[in-house]
Amino acid sequence: MTDEQLIFLARSAAGKAYAPYSNFHVGCAVESVDGEIATGANMENACYRLGLCAEQSALTAAQHSFGLDKIARIAVVGGTDSIACTPCGGCRQAILEAAQLSRQDLPILCGSGDGSKLERYTISDLLPSGFGPANLNVKPA
Ligand code: THU
Repeated sequence: MTDEQLIFLARSAAGKAYAPYSNFHVGCAVESVDGEIATGANMENACYRLGLCAEQSALTAAQHSFGLDKIARIAVVGGTDSIACTPCGGCRQAILEAAQLSRQDLPILCGSGDGSKLERYTISDLLPSGFGPANLNVKPA
């Protein structure tokens, strides 16, 4: 699958966001090493702090579909303007968990809501020197 195709799936997932408070719709598509896809979107709550980000929602789906340790690539799209949507700090930490279990410096594609920008990062770009399962001696499968 091309980067653009994975971004397209993330954009489609954003269409299923529940974000009536921020009105900022985010979608995430996670690809496995075997080409399977899991998607998620942000889900807000009237108790604002209980909102769930798209990335964590997609990572949960990925764990159920093929396992965090089989993740190969992640795409995130959000908003409506020309700023690429990069994962928040908490989501970077959640992606690091999958990256260490997958033994990969996971690529993360970040797209803008208007489709004009596509930025490419890896988790070590976004979260250098992170604290992950390796620090607690939890080994990949
Ligand atoms: N959001 C995500 O889903 N992922 C991110 O990485 C950044 C922020 C959501 C949370 C909230 O529902 C909305 O975007 C505005 O912050």
